[in-house]
Amino acid sequence: MLDQLHALKDKGLRELEALREVTQLPEWHRQYLSKKGELTQFLKQLGQLSAEERPALGKAANEVKQSLSEQFELHQKQLQEKKLNEALESDEIDVTLPGRPAPRGHLHPCTQALRRIASVFGEMGFQVYESPEVETDENNFQLLNIPSYHPARDMWDTFWINDEVVLRTHTSPGQIRAMREFYPEPIRIILPGKVYRYEQITPRSEHQFYQIEGLAVGRNIKMTDLIGVITEYSRKMYGMERKVRIRGSYFPFTEPSIEVDMDCNLCDGEGCRVCKYAGWLEVAGAGMVHPVVLKNGGYDPEEWSGFAFGFGLERPIMLQHGVEDIRYFYGNDLKFLHQF
Ligand code: DAH
Repeated sequence: MLDQLHALKDKGLRELEALREVTQLPEWHRQYLSKKGELTQFLKQLGQLSAEERPALGKAANEVKQSLSEQFELHQKQLQEKKLNEALESDEIDVTLPGRPAPRGHLHPCTQALRRIASVFGEMGFQVYESPEVETDENNFQLLNIPSYHPARDMWDTFWINDEVVLRTHTSPGQIRAMREFYPEPIRIILPGKVYRYEQITPRSEHQFYQIEGLAVGRNIKMTDLIGVITEYSRKMYGMERKVRIRGSYFPFTEPSIEVDMDCNLCDGEGCRVCKYAGWLEVAGAGMVHPVVLKNGGYDPEEWSGFAFGFGLERPIMLQHGVEDIRYFYGNDLKFLHQF
């Protein structure tokens, strides 16, 4: 029986060696090592042997089984490696082919403009101050000298969260927050950010847009400082030959209040479609900070004075680039965005 066992082993190993494909392996395994395989069948005969013969033969049979299993695994590994190498060789990668271009994005036109504006004001010593988009009625209106009964509230169509909380309608409430934080230091900041208005959406007006607010508070700040800062801003942004003019206006939080215009940089003030043949473009609403507002921020108006201004971000970009619909800025259309 021992001979039979060795013959079985030799045959198994020989046949295993002859296999050339991974796919042939399961059949061999079934034939030799499975429950119905030849070795198991052989082991079943052991029961018929005498007690003296059985241990030696059992031991030999187990050694054969182990040897067949080990060789099987080894051969399987070799065949798998062979298959992988063949795949690699037939599937060569041409490293000299040019790569696929990765699409490259860029900053949103509003972000580009915001950064440029921040850098122009930065050169004049203004820091960027950020304040929340969800505001209290108190900061958005009352402390800016707009009491709840005052008709000036109609200047801002408001999204109300509840009786006391709004989506800020302008960046001006940041003035109050900044003053309360910086007191008793002088202040020179811009406050860029999103504002919200409960408005019909049209090509000219969105219910969300950007504003840039400016605030300077100090001991001897005058209207001429305000005009100087806005003139410098207009020149750095739109060309050193720009001229500005001011007109009287009204805002509850400034006294006196003005509107600042600059001569149209597209026609040099001659009059064109962009400036509607006026020769002038609006730059900002502005004025000297109202004494009530200074006081609400913690600054004594007898000792301190300040100027403030505010303007929208999208309108000027639209004018400069001939964008005809403000909704393009928030439409996520790459055809539009790639032009900037
Ligand atoms: N907050 C005003 C608005 O949204 C803009 C403005 C005007 C801001 C005059 C100012 C200012 O700081 O002085 O219509």
